[in-house]
Amino acid sequence: MKKTLFMFILGTRPEIIKLSPLIRLCQNKRVPFKIIHSGQHYSYAMDRVFFSELKLPMPDYRLDIRSKAPHMQGEHTGRMLIEIEKILLKDMPKAVIVQGDTNTALAGAMTAEKISTTKSYTGFEIKVAHVEAGLRSYDRSMPEEINRFLVDHISDFLFVPTAIQKNIVLKEGVPSDNVFVTGNTIVDAVRANLALAGKKKAFLSKIGVKKGNFILLTLHRQENVDSEKTFRRICRGINLVTEKLGMSVVFPVHPRTEKKIRAFDIEFHNNVKVLRPLDFLTFLYAESTASLILTDSGGVQEEACMLKVPCVTLRDNTERPETIKVGANIISGRDPDEILKASLKMIEVRRDWPNPFGDGKASSRMLDILLRKA
Ligand code: UD1
Ligand code: UDP
Repeated sequence: MKKTLFMFILGTRPEIIKLSPLIRLCQNKRVPFKIIHSGQHYSYAMDRVFFSELKLPMPDYRLDIRSKAPHMQGEHTGRMLIEIEKILLKDMPKAVIVQGDTNTALAGAMTAEKISTTKSYTGFEIKVAHVEAGLRSYDRSMPEEINRFLVDHISDFLFVPTAIQKNIVLKEGVPSDNVFVTGNTIVDAVRANLALAGKKKAFLSKIGVKKGNFILLTLHRQENVDSEKTFRRICRGINLVTEKLGMSVVFPVHPRTEKKIRAFDIEFHNNVKVLRPLDFLTFLYAESTASLILTDSGGVQEEACMLKVPCVTLRDNTERPETIKVGANIISGRDPDEILKASLKMIEVRRDWPNPFGDGKASSRMLDILLRKA
């Protein structure tokens, strides 16, 4: 049996989607690898649907380590460290590959790093590759900001999407030899799947919505949905937008948000179509045919920008400043009037901005670097 060269460690929807091009490339080039799935996301619509749709091999290890959000984040990460360490010590990969800013990414990177610090005893070390490195919101109240900062500072390969992130990590003291501008793998994933997404056009008629005449909404940040007051303010903003624009809102609901809708007994305007989370192809189709996207998601801001659909970010900051710079995105905060103001502005913008996230070859650059240097 071939020795495991790389170990992908993933566990959430965006990690599966954004690592999919690199995993497929390893498969096609017969590079030996394995996958550890932490189990952070576990509902079919947040997990297995993407493996089947993106034609990914099933994970070699499934840990089933679920979070007790909104609290016990330390315990969540700690349980992963213990289980991932056992697997890495057994399989001894050359490098682990993690993506983004989740607890899974932090646990994967930290475990590999801890093993490397015991090299004098075990005789081996494991390199850490961080896909989508260098992003910063500078908001330390977000668990994601802590995770991405820590992962960057223990990684051997920081695959940053653009020169903006390169400058950020260099200023923080990361050695320049560890930093590689590759583009973002979301461009690779969108390019590989956009034509297939066209086959999902029946989706809109099924929910009674017209192409080019609806708003797409996603919400899942803990700072937006875990506080009843904040969640209700955002909903008031959404109601103002749908009334003023006379458009339906298509709202595929993240499980965290769904729990909070039930707990707070939140009711939506009649124009809001509340749906289960969508598979990637259907979601891509919805994004590419929407008039406007309202979101607090990182990946959705990027995709909106790439697909030339104006975006309003329902947060006070973003770690995707290039979307703002090219004119594709605006930060509204959570005040209902500001959400309306930002939406009215963005729906009028000319959709002629450039895509700042790369040329769709990020994964092949990453694999090339890893095969030469890991
Ligand atoms: C996590 C990541 C966040 C990322 C998001 C992508 C952390 C700290 N947060 O947030 O960076 O943007 O994933 O969607 O790593 N749940 C289900 N079914 C699922 C998944 C989650 O019911 O398949 C429930 C969990 O039981 C929990 C809640 O949703 O109650 C939140 O899940 P959790 O993984 O802690 O955080 P996310 O908000 O998904
Ligand atoms: N997405 C999806 N179905 C949905 C909502 C989102 O497939 O109903 C995809 C979306 O295309 C993007 C990713 O999920 O690639 C973003 O994940 P999420 O918003 O959960 O996390 P974030 O990007 O904020 O970390």
